[in-house]
Amino acid sequence: MNDEKMVILGGVRLRGEVKISGAKNSAVAVLVASILVNGKCVIENVPRVSDIYNLIGIIKSLGCEADFVGDDTVEIDCSEIKSYKATGAAVRKIRASSYFMGALLGRLHKASVDLPGGCDFGVRPIDQHLKGFKALGADSDIEYGVVNITADKLVGDTVYMDVVSVGATIDVMLAAVLAEGMTVIESAAKEPHVVDVANFLNSMGANIRGAGTDVIKIRGVKELHGGSFSVIPDQIEAGTFMIAAAATGGDVLVNNIIPKHMESLSAKLEEMGVGIEEFDEAIRVFVKQPELRRCNVKTQPYPGFPTDLQPPMLTLLTKAKGTSIMTENVWENRFQYVSELNRMGAYISLEDSDEAVVEGGSKLVGAPVCAKDLRAGAAMVVAALMADGVTEIYNLKYIDRGYENFEKKLKKLGAQITRRCVNPMPDFLKTAGEK
Ligand code: EPZ
Repeated sequence: MNDEKMVILGGVRLRGEVKISGAKNSAVAVLVASILVNGKCVIENVPRVSDIYNLIGIIKSLGCEADFVGDDTVEIDCSEIKSYKATGAAVRKIRASSYFMGALLGRLHKASVDLPGGCDFGVRPIDQHLKGFKALGADSDIEYGVVNITADKLVGDTVYMDVVSVGATIDVMLAAVLAEGMTVIESAAKEPHVVDVANFLNSMGANIRGAGTDVIKIRGVKELHGGSFSVIPDQIEAGTFMIAAAATGGDVLVNNIIPKHMESLSAKLEEMGVGIEEFDEAIRVFVKQPELRRCNVKTQPYPGFPTDLQPPMLTLLTKAKGTSIMTENVWENRFQYVSELNRMGAYISLEDSDEAVVEGGSKLVGAPVCAKDLRAGAAMVVAALMADGVTEIYNLKYIDRGYENFEKKLKKLGAQITRRCVNPMPDFLKTAGEK
C-alpha cells in the first residue's frame, strides 16, 4: 500500500501570516447535531480534514443529504433521515461518532452506534454519555461493540457529570434539545466547542442557556428549523502555529482566531520569554530573547491548558534550558510520542504515566519518526522545524485527520517542507507504527 511521509529541513525561522481554519472538534459536533434539525443547515468555516469527510459519509449513510458546496461550506439536510444505525469502519475510526448516540436518540428516540474510536491514549469510556441518556429516560446496552439506546420518550432531568467531559456534555445536550421539559447538566465542560454547539443549536431554534459555564440548562423544544451557522476558529491549530513560531524563533501573525481561547497558552509562552502581541482576531508570536526560560505545564479542562496542545508544548520545552515538567491531567496515556522526540535527541523521562520531565537546552536532530496520533503528529512537525537537518514523518493519516493544508500553511511561513510517497514502507514503521 502506498503511504506518504512529510520531509522537513529544520532550522528555518517561521515568518509571516497564517490564517487558521474552522475548529475540527467543533465542526464534527455541529455536523452531527444537524441530524436534530428538520430542514437544511448551511455550515460555514468547516475544515477539509479527513475526520470531516468521514462524518459526512456516515451522515449520508443515514439517508441524509450532506456535502461540501464551497471551499469551507457544508450543506446538510436531515429532514428525511431514514436510519438510526451508525455502524461500520468509518464510525469506529473517529471519536466524534459518539455524538451520533445523542443526536439519533434525540431525533428518533433510538440509536445503534458502533463504539467510537479515535486517537489511542488509554481507555476512552462513554459511561458519562450513557449516564446522561439514562437520566433522560433512555435504556442502553452494548452488544458486540455496538451501543444500542432506546427511549419511549425523553424527559429532562438533572445530570451530574462525574468527570468534566467535552463529549458527554455535548452528547447529553444533543439528546436533551428535543426532550420534554428542562435538562440541567452539572459539572459541564466549558470548552469553546461546547459553546459553539450550543450556539449552533440555539440558532436553529433550541433553548440552551449557560454553555461556557459549569451548569448548562436546556429547555426542550418541539422542533429545530434550518439555517446558517459559521464554526469558530480552531483553538488547537492556532496553538500549534503559535508554538511552532516560538520553537523556530520566528515572527508569525496567527490570524482569524479568538485570542481569548488562547489565553492559557499565551500566558505560558510569555512565561518562557516569548513575545505575544494580541489583536482583536489575531496574535503575533515573536522572539524577544535568544534563550527560552523553562516552565512547568499542567493540562486541565478549559480554561486550563488544553491537553491537545500538550505534545507540541512538550516539544517546545526541549528548547528551554533547565528542567521543565509537563503533567497530563486529562488522558491516562498521552505521552506515547515521547520516544520519538528522544530519538531526535530530546532528554525526556516519563516519571509516571501522567508526568514527563524534560531536561531542555540541547538541539534536536532530524530523524525518521512516526506520528503516533493527531497531536503527537503535530508535535513531530514542530520538532522537525526546530531540528538540525532533515526529519521524515510517517503515518500522516493521523495529522490529516485534523490539520487543513498543514504543509501549505507552513510553506507560506518559509518552512522547508514537502510530502512524498513512501513505497515500500520502511522497516521501523512495521514495529513502531500505528495502534
Ligand atoms: C474531546 O474528546 C476532544 N475530541 C479531544 O481532542 C480532547 O483531547 C478532549 O475532548 C479533552 O479536551 C473531540 O472533541 C472530537 P472527554 P472527548 O470526554 O470528548 C474521561 C484531538 O486531538 N471520560 O472530554 O472524547 C476521559 O477518559 C482530540 O482533537 C470518562 O471518564 O474527551 C478523559 O479522561 C483528542 N467518561 C476525560 O473524561 C466518559 O464518559 C475527558 O474526556 C467520557 C470521558
